[in-house]
Amino acid sequence: MSREADGLEGGPRGAPLHPRLMAMMMAARYFGLELDPHEFRNAPGETTPGASALSDWAKNSGMWCRALRLRWRHLMHLGGTGPVVLLFNDGTAGLLTGANAESKIVGLKDPRAPEAEPAIMVDEMRLAEVWSGETILLRSERGGREADPPFTVGWLFEMMMKEKKALGDLFLASFALSFLTIVPPLLVMSVVDKVITHHSFATLFLISTILGIMVAYETLLGFARRLIIAVVGVRTDAKLNLHIFARLVRLPLDYFERHPAGETMYKVSQIHQVRGFITGKLLTTLLDMITLAVLLPVLFLLNATLAWIVLVCSTAVMLIILAYLRPMRVVFGRVIQAETDKQSALGETVFGIKTVKSLALEPQRKALWDERVAEAGKWRLAFGKLGNWPQTLVTPIERFMWMGVILVGAYLALVDETGFQVGSLFAFMMLSQRVSQPLVGLARLIEDWEEVAGAMAQAADVLNRPLEVDAASGGLRPKFAGAITFEDVTFTYAGTKTPALEKVSFAIPAGTMLGLVGRSGSGKSTVTRLLQGINREYTGFVRIDNADLREINLRHLRSSFGVVLQDNFLFRGSIRDNILAGRPGLTLEDAIRAARLAGAEEFIERMPNGYETHIEEGSPNLSGGQKQRLAIARALITDPRIVILDEATSALDPESEALVNANLLRIARGRTMVVVSHRLSSLVECDQIMVLDKGMVMDIAPHEKLLERCTVYRQLWAQQNRHLDKQGPRHAALAPNLVHGN
Ligand SMILES: Nc1ncnc2c1ncn2[C@@H]1O[C@H](COP(=O)(O)OP(=O)(O)O)[C@@H](O)[C@H]1O
Ligand SMILES: [Mg+2]
Repeated sequence: MSREADGLEGGPRGAPLHPRLMAMMMAARYFGLELDPHEFRNAPGETTPGASALSDWAKNSGMWCRALRLRWRHLMHLGGTGPVVLLFNDGTAGLLTGANAESKIVGLKDPRAPEAEPAIMVDEMRLAEVWSGETILLRSERGGREADPPFTVGWLFEMMMKEKKALGDLFLASFALSFLTIVPPLLVMSVVDKVITHHSFATLFLISTILGIMVAYETLLGFARRLIIAVVGVRTDAKLNLHIFARLVRLPLDYFERHPAGETMYKVSQIHQVRGFITGKLLTTLLDMITLAVLLPVLFLLNATLAWIVLVCSTAVMLIILAYLRPMRVVFGRVIQAETDKQSALGETVFGIKTVKSLALEPQRKALWDERVAEAGKWRLAFGKLGNWPQTLVTPIERFMWMGVILVGAYLALVDETGFQVGSLFAFMMLSQRVSQPLVGLARLIEDWEEVAGAMAQAADVLNRPLEVDAASGGLRPKFAGAITFEDVTFTYAGTKTPALEKVSFAIPAGTMLGLVGRSGSGKSTVTRLLQGINREYTGFVRIDNADLREINLRHLRSSFGVVLQDNFLFRGSIRDNILAGRPGLTLEDAIRAARLAGAEEFIERMPNGYETHIEEGSPNLSGGQKQRLAIARALITDPRIVILDEATSALDPESEALVNANLLRIARGRTMVVVSHRLSSLVECDQIMVLDKGMVMDIAPHEKLLERCTVYRQLWAQQNRHLDKQGPRHAALAPNLVHGN
């Protein structure tokens, strides 16, 4: 097994690994996990791997990992829980293999030392010379529950609850604020009852001062409360964003193939609505409920009869609003739909105005527009009418609440049996204002819940799918030579009936240039997809060298391939960045080497800024052939053992195609190449050509042999080279331009 050799070699050019990376990898191996040094990303501008970068590396590979600062006495408790990585002051690292509290020593291992060497025993003094506390703890996380809980509202809520301290402060602030809201009315009560009745200026002054202090407090607390809400919101958002992205990119490719990008993006963005709901409405309403809980008893204390009036009326208002919310939402949905339709009619007409005018379609477009305008107007009116009702019903209740409180209160004050005075009435009225608002908020909250649950379901539909993660974190990482074997491979795409590949068997030694030909839909791309582990539900065996593909670590597998497709996505950025594609440890020299091999060097150097030339989105400043050669350079940058070209030259003009094909033999040197093309002429040079038809292997042999013995191949060849037979040699040179020109 070549695991060890792979681990020690590290960087793409075989540079020795940093001791800190080695220490992490050794610690991970203790738990049966392989960390891939190529996946380590250091913080920008750093040369020594830092604690947080190292722990991110382990986390991204599916481990539980924490970077901490520990003291000697903590280490005493860590023995026996598996290896712990200590980061030393000189930039290296050591593995803590055990601790003995009685003899006050710890066992340390140098990651660079051979495996069999025993640990060195160190005491506190000696360790303190090299170590100031930076520690990384690692655990395997096979169950993966902490890292990958399903997305549910409960999970989101739990994540928010992790901000315990902030939320605790928030509740404290809200509680204090609620009490503060009681004070001014009570003060007013004193002013009216005492000051006015007894003409006491001293009391008035005292009350004013207290009131002033209250206002200051309330302002500050309100400030703090809003600040905390904002902070909790942003922090949850950040965590959520990181988590969502990590999950999204780990979904299998066939998910993305079956769902349009826009749909995925829309659904995923729905989760922010849920987050907004939890940190927005839910939180504020819950906080309002605190106010209510504090206020209601005070109201009842002031006067139970009046309190009942307020409570009953507010509840009635709440119920009315609740009853109308759903029908209003339904109608509002129609309004939105009608408006969208209206907009799209307008948009289509404007975008297609050339067609509209040249076909004289104006009357039809206008009729369509009129219809849409009428529809939108109809629903807007319906919405307005419906919305008028709760408003109308609520008004008398609200008025009754005020009038009732004033009238009954005045009566009670006049009778003055219970000690209820005018001041108390004022206080009561001020406080009761704050009761109905939280109740209405609660009504809206209950209604919103449905919408939020819907949004959550949409996001969960994308994010709670099975991930590729298991294959990505476990598995073998052999060093490939490049032999490929298919043994009775049968594969059917999910949702289709006929197999895309049926009993495909072939074997090629390392270094072969294999051509794949066949009609469109014959399964050529499927062969390359199985090789890359994109589709894994096949029967039979696929082997690379002698390792079963299913047992190979997925990320390792894919990074061992160089793949160029028909249409390659170039990222925005310089040519150099595109070739390096963010792979660590590579320099401009590597980019130039790869570009030369791909035949791209010549045109890059003619560009105004050479390798620093900026590529825009959609790369309008590059021709198809140039783009393709850049994509090839990008695929070759890691010096992969196996290169797959799937119709890489099919969309190119003959001249660019010839340029790329001219480099193929050079690229193929020392590599296994799988070249898919429907143009047989570009495969003539292949060592072996496999002919596929309806998912079955017709034959596999070099070009000459196939011409002799394979009917399908001969037909295809004859179809594509008819001009050679019929038109004679004079037209042969011209013909490709006519046939394939674009
Ligand atoms: N993602 C997919 N989902 C379902 N069916 C697919 C998918 N990709 C390809 N197929 C089907 O599998 C068969 C083989 O396709 P493919 O390997 O792409 O053919 P080729 O590359 O030779 O044109 C075709 O019948 C095609 O319709
Ligand atoms: Mg294809």
